[in-house]
Amino acid sequence: NAQAASALEEREKLFYQNEEYADMDWDNLGFALTPADYMYVMKCSKDGDFTKGELTRFGNIELSPSAGVLNYGQAIYEGTKAYRKDNGKLLLFRPDHNAVRMQHGAERMLMPSPSVDQFVDAVKQTAFANKRWVPPSGKGSLYIRPLLMGTGPVLGLGPAPEYTFIVYASPVGNYFKEGVAALNLYVEEEHARAAPGGSGGVKSITNYAPVLKALSRAKSLGYSDVLYLDSVKKKYLEEASACNVFVVKGRTISTPATNGTILEGITRKSVMEIACDQGYQVVEKAVHVDEVMDADEVFCTGTAVGVAPVGTITYQDKRVEYETGDESVCQKLRSVLVGIQTGLVEDTKGWVTCI
Ligand code: COI
Repeated sequence: NAQAASALEEREKLFYQNEEYADMDWDNLGFALTPADYMYVMKCSKDGDFTKGELTRFGNIELSPSAGVLNYGQAIYEGTKAYRKDNGKLLLFRPDHNAVRMQHGAERMLMPSPSVDQFVDAVKQTAFANKRWVPPSGKGSLYIRPLLMGTGPVLGLGPAPEYTFIVYASPVGNYFKEGVAALNLYVEEEHARAAPGGSGGVKSITNYAPVLKALSRAKSLGYSDVLYLDSVKKKYLEEASACNVFVVKGRTISTPATNGTILEGITRKSVMEIACDQGYQVVEKAVHVDEVMDADEVFCTGTAVGVAPVGTITYQDKRVEYETGDESVCQKLRSVLVGIQTGLVEDTKGWVTCI
């Protein structure tokens, strides 16, 4: 039996090794859109049921100028990645958690949502149909973007009468132009990202355009991203524009508690679990900006960003440097997470789905 299994494994390996790859420069992937061949589209009927989803070629979609999403921003999105294992197979990382998060977001934005099974099936179909766009093992991943939006027409403010769920994909490498180098962050004090009672805790599209002004100002000054503070006291850390944030002091790792203004990142919770397993004390709490400035290390987490070290933070007129490098806590946690995601470290947690 062991012999048969290893023969099968060998055949599968050959099959996947011979498979065609898209014509890409896999060594120079950044985080720009290179649309993969297929997208998945599923519409929701007026009675709130999502049915008849199917793959179609990637392309433009037609919308009424009065679509709910265009006029009132009724839409949420997700981000997840497919990785190629060294034997060529594709791996998905916790897509069921994206499905559940989309359901919570949809509930907040008064939208119907696909079931967990429909969502996961759509992500699997999209990854598999686009497998030639999944970078070779170790070169990056296929970023998969599920999008749920009110596509029916509205004029007065109200929920759209029809909804569309789309999943498209693009091969990606590092999110930041810094690559794997440490980030330089700027603490933003003029703009807030989210307010208590608002939609900061869900992946509403309306959370993202409002950060562009502060983000582009910081980028023009040479920073990688901005760090947002709470909108009430303006003293407690929230998150960066595109990722969650962690602060390390000794063996304690703190991250802002999710209280409705902070996105409940899937990478965030996975890293917290890995850190606990490794014996760190992991604390979710209100993290004061003074504590950030006094930390040993700071790092960011997100699906797009991965686990990224922070080299400096500038707050008011003070710039602080942090420990980074191979021996850092960030690097240790990152290598376990990436190992699980790419199939190099045994997945004892059932986080990875092979397709
Ligand atoms: C992700 O990490 O998947 C996100 O949605 C962040 C986005 C700004 C790229």
